Amino acid sequence: MTVAAHRTVVPDEHHSAAVDYEPISVDGKTVVVVGGTSGIGRAITLALAIEGANVVPTSRTEERVAATAAAARERGAAALEHTCDVTDRDSLDALADAAVERFGTVDAVVNSPGAIARASVADVTDDEWARVLDVQLTGVHRTVQTFLDRADLESVVNVASLSSALGIEDLAAYSAAKGGIDGYTHAAAKDLGPDVRVNAVRPGFVATPQTADAYAEGSHRYERIVERASIGRIGRPADIAGAVVYLLSPAASYVTGETITVDGGFTPSAF
Ligand SMILES: NC(=O)c1ccc[n+]([C@@H]2O[C@H](COP(=O)([O-])OP(=O)(O)OC[C@H]3O[C@@H](n4cnc5c(N)ncnc54)[C@H](OP(=O)(O)O)[C@@H]3O)[C@@H](O)[C@H]2O)c1
Repeated sequence: MTVAAHRTVVPDEHHSAAVDYEPISVDGKTVVVVGGTSGIGRAITLALAIEGANVVPTSRTEERVAATAAAARERGAAALEHTCDVTDRDSLDALADAAVERFGTVDAVVNSPGAIARASVADVTDDEWARVLDVQLTGVHRTVQTFLDRADLESVVNVASLSSALGIEDLAAYSAAKGGIDGYTHAAAKDLGPDVRVNAVRPGFVATPQTADAYAEGSHRYERIVERASIGRIGRPADIAGAVVYLLSPAASYVTGETITVDGGFTPSAF
């Protein structure tokens, strides 16, 4: 290639890249948020509602589902109320059928179901281990399979955790499950691409009903989080939502198998 020809090609490529930019938007998408009725999942549901998506916030408890759906409607979204239990395939089938019937299809699923056992490797019981893995890992897989079968899924976002990368005491089963989410996110991105993108967000320490005791203001853990995080405070559920909106949007159409950490700078901070 001559220098002159090279000069002709490069500006054209730049020009076409600028024209092809896709926005950070979920307007008109239908998104099911599993575990979307409390804490991080609820904040994700409401952010998606504000950004113009149709939302299906779901979990086991009818009152929580109804309250979150009402909050989404207050923010201008169409919202379907439907419970589910990720440990029960029939309930996931019923959820998917109801969502497809209401909205025509489901474009994306966000997996944010919570289950925790505060027990060390030495003490965790088989029942605690099985419960946490069933909700946090197998439940996510069941959900993905269910929606693959019933909808034209484009995108999945799983809620991961720092506990897969950093040792946190008394979280043996939880950390194992979240390590599984990291591997599952990579495997699913490979298996389901190019049609379905699969990504994760990895929150830092976020104040939610699940963590109310562990990170109570003034506690040892709270002080450690505030001291180490470069942003200097504990996370809020809404802090996590923007990364999910981005990952579900056309702006992220070349992003899959990736995890975005949102931890206020906790992980990359030494002292
Ligand atoms: N908070 C943090 O610091 C933090 C950090 C990293 C990662 N995470 C992860 O973020 C996700 C959300 O946690 P959170 O702190 O927001 O907890 P949360 O406020 O307790 O919310 C958990 C949600 O999961 C639902 N849920 C529980 N069991 C379920 C099941 N079997 N089937 C369907 N839904 C179920 C709950 O509703 P029902 O009780 O009505 O079912 C609720 O909506 C979890 O995966 C958690 O591990 C949290």
